[in-house]
Amino acid sequence: MLLLVAAFTVAFVLLLYMVSPLISPKPLKLAGAHVVVTGGSSGIGKCIAMECYKQGAFITLVARDENKLLQAKKEIEKCAINDKQVVLCISVDVSKEYRQVQNVMKQAQEKLGPVDMLVNCAGLAIAGNFENIAIDNFARLMEVNYLGSVYPSRAVIGTMKERRMGRIVFVSSQAGQLGLFGYTAYSPTKFALRGLAEALQMEVKPYNVYITVAYPPDTDTPGFAEENKSKPLETRLISESSSLCQAEQVARIIVKDAIQGNFNSSVGPDGYMLSSLTCGMSPVTSITEGLQQVVTMGLFRTIALFYLGSFDSIVRRCMIKKEKPEHTDKAE
Ligand SMILES: NC(=O)c1ccc[n+]([C@@H]2O[C@H](COP(=O)([O-])OP(=O)(O)OC[C@H]3O[C@@H](n4cnc5c(N)ncnc54)[C@H](OP(=O)(O)O)[C@@H]3O)[C@@H](O)[C@H]2O)c1
Repeated sequence: MLLLVAAFTVAFVLLLYMVSPLISPKPLKLAGAHVVVTGGSSGIGKCIAMECYKQGAFITLVARDENKLLQAKKEIEKCAINDKQVVLCISVDVSKEYRQVQNVMKQAQEKLGPVDMLVNCAGLAIAGNFENIAIDNFARLMEVNYLGSVYPSRAVIGTMKERRMGRIVFVSSQAGQLGLFGYTAYSPTKFALRGLAEALQMEVKPYNVYITVAYPPDTDTPGFAEENKSKPLETRLISESSSLCQAEQVARIIVKDAIQGNFNSSVGPDGYMLSSLTCGMSPVTSITEGLQQVVTMGLFRTIALFYLGSFDSIVRRCMIKKEKPEHTDKAE
């Protein structure tokens, strides 16, 4: 009897694996496609642009600093796989004026054709204790990380729906899956992207447009180095409990997930666990993904409780250290 149940379960799972690709989106071909990457002049965005270029895409890089854009263009062009490929650079602040962003997207589409994939990667992190973060920075982060993704997406979605094809990627963060010490200004901006992505996916799925939300872990980039300058000790210690990823690795995973039309994009076992644990009512792109989430939820919640306990004890230890007067240290 036990053998029969086991055989039935194995057959059922195999059947699901076989049927799964039938309901999954058709992968997007990057050869000849037009990919726009905001924040494409540095870090994760630059590596995403490079990865797409290596697969034959035409690239538009969007960021503010023109010198950084030109430098990135030169680096990316070295990865060309044919002599027709083009890297276009456009300097604009994605967070300020919707009309400006709309104009640059129009320019890009006039030069390289309709956008097949938009990667919203422009963003920044500011860490600090809630009461120490300059009050204007709460609005600034929301403008760049959230509105800076709304504006480019809004500017291209109409054409994607008309063409019945397209991909939009929102680069969130693991800090957009759980709130961590020091990220009271940053985390909400990355959580907001998830809400936007879920609602938008429901609207555009019938038009064969797929949304991906990427949740990178700590990644070695110029932006990460900048963020580290003001990171509280607690945030640094919590962050050091997992390893630092390379931007190239993160970019490869994001591009692969976007091509396949996966809603969630995570990196490594920690990322997989967090995405399964926080999947909530988010869409699934394959039966197997949904099944894995159902099966692993309880186990992952148990592991997460241990993580949360260890984060609490880091915070407590830091507090005791800060409150201990210096002379007590010497007396000991
Ligand atoms: N690195 C990490 O550990 C990590 C982890 C999770 C998530 N992320 C997210 O991944 C994304 C990229 O991070 P990164 O570490 O690669 O950062 P980065 O190296 O600092 O690159 C940020 C890019 O965004 C552009 N940018 C910033 N503000 C902009 C604005 N207002 N308008 C247009 N472009 C703007 C920058 O160029 P200009 O300054 O010239 O405009 C640059 O090209 C961010 O959204 C970040 O929150 C990063």
